[in-house]
Amino acid sequence: MQLPQEVLDEVIRLVRQSNKYAVISETLIRDIAEAELKKGKSLKESVKSTRNKIHQVGSAFQETSIPYPTWKQELEKLPTLITSNETLAFVTKSLRYHASTAERFPFIASFFMQTLAPIQPIESILDLACGFTPLCIPWMPVSDNISYTGIDIYQDMIDFLDLFFIHYNLKHTFTVGNIIESVPIEKVHVAFLLKTIPCLEQVDKTIGSRLLEKIPAENILVSFPSRSLAGRSKGMAANYEAHFNQLLSGKNWRVTKSEFPNEIAFLIQK
Ligand SMILES: C[S@@+](CC[C@H](N)C(=O)[O-])C[C@H]1O[C@@H](n2cnc3c(N)ncnc32)[C@H](O)[C@@H]1O
Repeated sequence: MQLPQEVLDEVIRLVRQSNKYAVISETLIRDIAEAELKKGKSLKESVKSTRNKIHQVGSAFQETSIPYPTWKQELEKLPTLITSNETLAFVTKSLRYHASTAERFPFIASFFMQTLAPIQPIESILDLACGFTPLCIPWMPVSDNISYTGIDIYQDMIDFLDLFFIHYNLKHTFTVGNIIESVPIEKVHVAFLLKTIPCLEQVDKTIGSRLLEKIPAENILVSFPSRSLAGRSKGMAANYEAHFNQLLSGKNWRVTKSEFPNEIAFLIQK
């Protein structure tokens, strides 16, 4: 069904009127708004349900507003050594503002050392729906020449990650984008798809297997939460593992599983 362009544009405009949604990838808002309008919803209902969906896939992980202007000032004063105590303290504080990295923080070093052990040292990373994971680079087994590419739907987050990597003189490309629509085509050593498949499947049920197929990397680190944001864990790890195995059916890829207190990870080697 073809929707009148001006109705779709109006839903997008209204969704973006709130500051919370103004910094979000327009292509993601467009995709969600289009799907909502196609269900026959009114303009008002479509604005509301588009915002709800964006909340589920993004804003739910950032309940507190993030003080980027203050962080930028603090970053400028930090030493340029990424492993300095001052840097680690700054990153530790910052990671708390994104629920996904906050809950991984208690086992951050073992998470990357263990999951990436078979392929370290890492030369290049493509981090899809990255959140604040790129800030965890001090705990990753990477080479001195590491190149980091990250994509997420938040313009303010991407701007900050860019400044952080400039400060530490690390090769990087951070972009605002919707990975349901497209992913970069440059080959990388490893791609991260961390706690992201369930999020994307709320917008597109078929995205999991399509992404695993087209990501330009022979190694993909995939993870799933094994506890909800509210702390419930009942059967989550087993359900997600079964779902992951379905996504992999028919593929002859080597998979190494690692389990952590609230996350289950799989390193795929194609
Ligand atoms: C559960 S969090 C995971 C973040 C990070 N990968 C981690 O493990 O800490 C999901 C992330 O996906 C991002 N996101 C949601 N939909 C997206 C999309 N279509 N394209 C790119 N990023 C998306 C959200 O903004 C959020 O940062």
